Formats: sequence, C-alpha cells, structure tokens
Amino acid sequence: MRTQYNFKISFLPLLLLSLFISFSCDNNSRFYNGMVSSAHPIASKIGLDILKSGGNAFDAAVAVHFALSVVYPNAGNIGGGGFLVYRLNDGEIGTLDFREKAPENSFRDMYIDNIDGKMEVNDKKSKIGHLASGIPGSVDGMVKIYEKFSNLEWDKLLDPSIKVAREGFEVTEKQAKGLNNVKESLLKANDHEIPFIRESEWKQGNLLIQENLAQTLEEIKESKRDGFYKGKVAELIINEMISGGGIITQSDLDNYSSVWRNPIVGYFKNHKIISMGPPSSGGIALVQLLNGAEQLETKSYNHNSAEYINTISEIESRVYADRATHLGDPDFFNVPQKSLLDKNYLTNRFSEIKSEIKTPSSKVKEGSFVGYESDETTHFSIVDKYGNAVSVTTTINGGYGSKVVVEGAGFLLNNEMDDFSVKPGYPNMFGLVGGEANAIEPNKRMLSSMTPTIIEKNDKLLMVLGTPGGSTIITSVFQTILNVIDYGMDMQKAVDAKKFHHQWLPDVLVVEKTTLSDELSNELSQIGHNIVKRSSLGRMDCILINEDGSLEGGADKRGDNIALGY
Ligand code: DON
Repeated sequence: MRTQYNFKISFLPLLLLSLFISFSCDNNSRFYNGMVSSAHPIASKIGLDILKSGGNAFDAAVAVHFALSVVYPNAGNIGGGGFLVYRLNDGEIGTLDFREKAPENSFRDMYIDNIDGKMEVNDKKSKIGHLASGIPGSVDGMVKIYEKFSNLEWDKLLDPSIKVAREGFEVTEKQAKGLNNVKESLLKANDHEIPFIRESEWKQGNLLIQENLAQTLEEIKESKRDGFYKGKVAELIINEMISGGGIITQSDLDNYSSVWRNPIVGYFKNHKIISMGPPSSGGIALVQLLNGAEQLETKSYNHNSAEYINTISEIESRVYADRATHLGDPDFFNVPQKSLLDKNYLTNRFSEIKSEIKTPSSKVKEGSFVGYESDETTHFSIVDKYGNAVSVTTTINGGYGSKVVVEGAGFLLNNEMDDFSVKPGYPNMFGLVGGEANAIEPNKRMLSSMTPTIIEKNDKLLMVLGTPGGSTIITSVFQTILNVIDYGMDMQKAVDAKKFHHQWLPDVLVVEKTTLSDELSNELSQIGHNIVKRSSLGRMDCILINEDGSLEGGADKRGDNIALGY
C-alpha cells in the first residue's frame, strides 16, 4: 500500500519523511538492481547512491559503515569492530574478522578488585570508561574490504559521511530519546565538550553536528589505515588513554590487523547456511540451532505456540551451554568446531527434548567430546546488481560503547572487553557466562554473538540477514530463518514476527511484550518457564531474493531501520 501525500501541506522535510515511510511500510516493494537495509535512513540512502553510481556491494558496505558511524553513533562506529560475511556472484564465500582485540597490557584478572576486603569483579570497569575498550578494528576492516573488492575511489566512499558529520543531520524521535537517556553517563565519562550533549533535551529534528568526527574521517579519507592507527588520530586516542587511565598503546594500534577467515557452513533442509565463525559464536550456534529445529521437526507446531516456544527454547538452552564452555578466539583457544557441528553429536544433544517438558538449566550441561581437535550493535545487508551479497554486523558493544568520546577526534570507544569472561561463571552485560576459552589474554579477541549470515538455496543466493541484540542476536537470526523457510513468511513479516529467547543461564524465557497471550503464558509457566518480558528483541536488516531475482527487504520497525532498493 502506497503512502498518500497531501501536496498542499507538503514541504521538503515532510516529503522526505513520507518517502522514507513509504519505503519502510511497503512490504511488497520489490527491486531488481540492488538493495541496502540498514539501521538508519541516511545510511541506507548513502549506500543506495553508491550502488546506483556503479559501486558494488563492498563499496556500498564501506560507505554504509562510515555513514552509520555518523548517523547512528550509539552503535555505528570507527571505535569498535565487527564481522563481514560475503558471497560473490560466482558463489565464492568468505568472511572478514575485524573484531577488537585485548590490549597488550590487559591481563586475566584486570577487572577483579579488592572490594570491602574481598577480591570481586568490578564490572563497572569492563563496561564504562577507558579500561573497557578493546583495540578498535573497524577502520582496518573497511580498508581491507576496500582493497580486496572495491570498484570505486576510496574518497567517494567517505565523502557523503564527512558531509553529514560536518553539516549535521536531524535526529529521529528514537535517537532523541536515546541521547536523553544516556546524557548522565556521557557527562560522567567525558570531561570535554562532546556533540551528544545539549543543555536542553534532545527533540526529534534537532541537528547533530560532529565537526571533530568529520576531521577524523578526513584523515581516514586521506591516509586510509594510517589516518586512524597512526598520526594525529592515533595521537588523540593515546592522549585519551593517558588522561583517562586506559591501556591502549601506539604499539597496540600498530599491530592491529583484521583477518580473513573461512566461514561456518552448515545445512538446514535444502539450504546452505553461510555465517561467521569464531571469534563469533554466531555461526556455530546458528547451525546447531537449525540442526535441532530440523531434527525435532519444529515446523509441525503452530508458529509461537507453547510447544514451539518450549521446543525451540530447549534447543537454545543446550546450544548456549556449549557456547559458554567451548567457544573463544580460535587464535588462542582450540575451538572444537568439528565436534560441535558433528551430526551424531547434535543428534544425541537434542534427542531428549520433549515439546511439553522444560528442563531446568541446572540440569543442562555443555556437551563433551572424546578429544579436542586441532544491547548496541548494528547490522546491514546489501545486494548489488551483479549479484554480490554482503552481511555486516558491527558494534561498540553497549549503547554508546564505553561512553568515552576521544577528545578532539569525536568518536566513541567501544566497551567490548566486557564480552570476555572476566571471571569464570561471572555473567557479562548480556548475562552470558564463560570460562577458560574466553578468558582475557593480551591480543586475544573477545567472544561475540554477532551472526551476519547469508543463505543459499539450490546454489543461488536466497537471503542476507543479521541483527544487533547481544546474546539474543543468534536466536533472532535463527527464528527469522525459520519464519521464512518453515512458515513461508515474506521477509518483512519474518522480521516483524515476535521473537523469544533462551540462553541457558540465566534460566529465563525472554519474550517480547505482546508475544504471549495470558493462556500461553500460563501454559509455559506451568511447565517451569520463568518468563521475562522485554520491549523488543532484535533490529533485523534482511534481504530476500525471490525466484524471479527480485529483492525484498525486511527492515526492523523496532528501530528506524529501512531497506531501500532500485
Ligand atoms: O559481540 C557481541 O556479541 C556483542 N558485543 C554485541 C552487542 C550488541 O549486540 C548490543 N546490541 N544491542
């Protein structure tokens, strides 16, 4: 259904807004040349313009990434890291790991302090302030993507973002609320002026101008990797560390390097699943989850019925128990990838699940093998006219990361160190626990849940998807795939559908507010579920490729997300 315009009262901002609304609400819009689905209308538009001007999906990815660092500062970043999963039009697949790393001066117990005579976790330090940051990977990642795959000039990929940073953009209603909520924490973490603070409350339509960020992006435009990891910007990062008691050094910046890694490949029915491997847990967990859904034939239950929710949450609980013990940075820990994805192992792992019985998490343990073989993030999905696809999830971890803005450089640093297991069994900000595999070590990458994913059917591209959401990322991606493949939903409906989540510990079933009727809620409580309601789960950005080659977007209305095509 197309949005009607009243031209008598229309003027430019209103018209632009209406256009965006028409794109985001028109679920049946199909496009044949290219599509960008991201968390912000301006970022999607910048990406679309790059595609229209002859850029490929990788050019658009780099441009969208930098655009999000300007227009979506709570998660879009140059001070964080992420993962790219790609599939070229000839079927070649791969991933780039540009996840942050622990600084050289980090150590296992760095967040354990003497609190009232007891050695306890001081988890504020891993969440807020200078010590919370890992070495940023995003800029190195973007340069690597550019050098391997790009068609266009580097400058062209940065110019639109520099312009928006310098001239400002109008914040959305959701952004205004977010900025007002974070004001106190930002004030505490910064002793210099930052653009995210206004004396009066932020309101929709207020301009956010980021001149320092524009200058930093100019440096990156001029000198690529060296514009961030060396010279003026590096100096500002190091000064910030010195003044705030952080530990990132110039040597950390010099030595940071993102890594091309093999994707995780698995199968669900007749679909090939291509996703991110360690140091993300996303790909392995997703393939395990899909295996459980196939084995237990969850498709036979009504969507979001008690049997469906219980069976899926039982699978999820076992998969997250494996995650807690067996997953970490593969450069430091021998991740038993083959065993975790082994058909026989998974058959046994899920064989005792019953649709009407809830197993207490205390009775669920990680699987064992005979031996070891050798809440802010953002996702975007892009398909270009050549048929290349990229799926990128990137993060500074919590909303506005560590809350520290590098003085003079205008960007926020991540608080990704909290994704490590700061002490065995001690929950991180998403309630996730871990142990040895994910303990802090210098230069190690912290375990992630980010799950940028691409799906093929009959050797053809079918879907590109991903989402933020901390520990709930994996289960949101999982359920969105089931919604399309098992329940025949179109891309937007699959994204809109209510989600739920179980992560083993804590033993709670997280559901979106209006997912469960009272009856369903009672039914699940009676078999032992502790139900916790959340206002929303996930902010998916997805693209579905139909049989006729047309592209269908699924951009999450839980955020300001929008899929634009041409
Ligand atoms: O890498 C991870 O798993 C987390 N740092 C992601 C954080 C996140 O998704 C927060 N978003 N809502």
